[in-house]
Amino acid sequence: MNQEIRERTKWFMDARFGMFIHWGIYAVPACGEWMMSQKRMPVEEYERYFDLFDPVDYDPAAWARLAKKAGMKYAVLTAKHHDGFCLFDSALTDYKATNTKAGRDLVREFLEAFRAEGIRVGLYFSVIDWHHPDFPKYADRNHPMRGCERFKDEVIDFDKYLAYMHGQVRELVTGYGKLDILWFDFSYDDMCGEKWKASELIKMVRTYQPDVIIDNRLEGSGEKNGSIATASPLSYSGDFASPEQIIPPEGIRDEQGELIPWELCATMNNHWGYCNCDHEFKPADMLIRKLAECVSKGGNMLLNVGPDARGRIPDESVRILTQIGAWMDKNSESIYGCGISRIPKPEWGRYTQKGDIVYAHVCEAPLGSLPLYGIGPDELEGAFYLADGSEIRRGETWNTAQFKKTAFLTFGEEASFTYPLPDKTDTVLKLVLKGNRG
Ligand code: GLC
Repeated sequence: MNQEIRERTKWFMDARFGMFIHWGIYAVPACGEWMMSQKRMPVEEYERYFDLFDPVDYDPAAWARLAKKAGMKYAVLTAKHHDGFCLFDSALTDYKATNTKAGRDLVREFLEAFRAEGIRVGLYFSVIDWHHPDFPKYADRNHPMRGCERFKDEVIDFDKYLAYMHGQVRELVTGYGKLDILWFDFSYDDMCGEKWKASELIKMVRTYQPDVIIDNRLEGSGEKNGSIATASPLSYSGDFASPEQIIPPEGIRDEQGELIPWELCATMNNHWGYCNCDHEFKPADMLIRKLAECVSKGGNMLLNVGPDARGRIPDESVRILTQIGAWMDKNSESIYGCGISRIPKPEWGRYTQKGDIVYAHVCEAPLGSLPLYGIGPDELEGAFYLADGSEIRRGETWNTAQFKKTAFLTFGEEASFTYPLPDKTDTVLKLVLKGNRG
């Protein structure tokens, strides 16, 4: 990984937690954003949702307050998804929010509202476009019209599509102020890299937004990382890897074994775009632990919400984000700016680390004293509950005497007794080590 990427991603690696927002006219049929492809729906049929889209409750300031309350430091909104519909006022198409009942540039309002809350802003942009006439259809593996005889011998001008796509990216990077993240999506088969004229695209983007952080999907997808994970990243390798719906077992490293910036993107239920019959939401305590897991492996978590057709973030998501926020309120010091600890993973949870400070994320109550795996009794200067700053008693006692290599703590007064975890989700202990163990 080169120095430039390291410099650029500094804030991103510190931020650790962001909000993904999948929103578009697909919120009307409410089956997720791939519905057009899954149902093999022709453009003319799908456009019905364009006519119906009327987000009367769209209040990006409320979304921004929620993201902030949850402890999220950045947010990424789908400016355009695969269906080709634009939430922004593109001069290059009529298929945009300004021409729906909304009648406004919804991207601009999003950017303003989130910036006002001090949240960094990013835009997702689909390089795939199922609405554009010059995008491949018959032989494409994802297009709604794949295998459809009507398009078998159709002649398209892909360069015309590329000019359109590049033009829209230009609109986004020139017309909306400083963007912190650009999230392209996605490459597959030969639809990859220079097929998108990726080096030209990136050159243009960097002219206007030199510091913007870009994902790796001009080359990659949830399936592969692309050249960012090699010894010589290409100009369009992007700045971070984007594992999807999976936490990489050991983080993500390049060929030289150096950790590269990565960001898990994950849904809260099982869909990105709003789905009114999907109530399989992951509970807040699980998501909190997964966030800590990402950080303990050197990565970020971009957690998705799929606002409904009226523009509201589903109640379940609001509830979960509020619960995450209550935990973050007391424990975010163990998340922001933290990363992999040099001390191996303990059995009861995880360690994260920032400088010399090690944070123990205890997710399982010990029987008797808590062994601080990997830390010797003489190495520990002090241990504190992060949530209230109070000191935790040492747990060395008669029955720990034979385990001389390990420091122990107790959650109560009597070290050989068993106590419940103060925070059942993840009790964070701030460990101050002697010398420079960090
Ligand atoms: C996928 C999907 C998409 C979603 C994205 C988020 O590649 O095509 O619908 O937006 O991943 O990571």
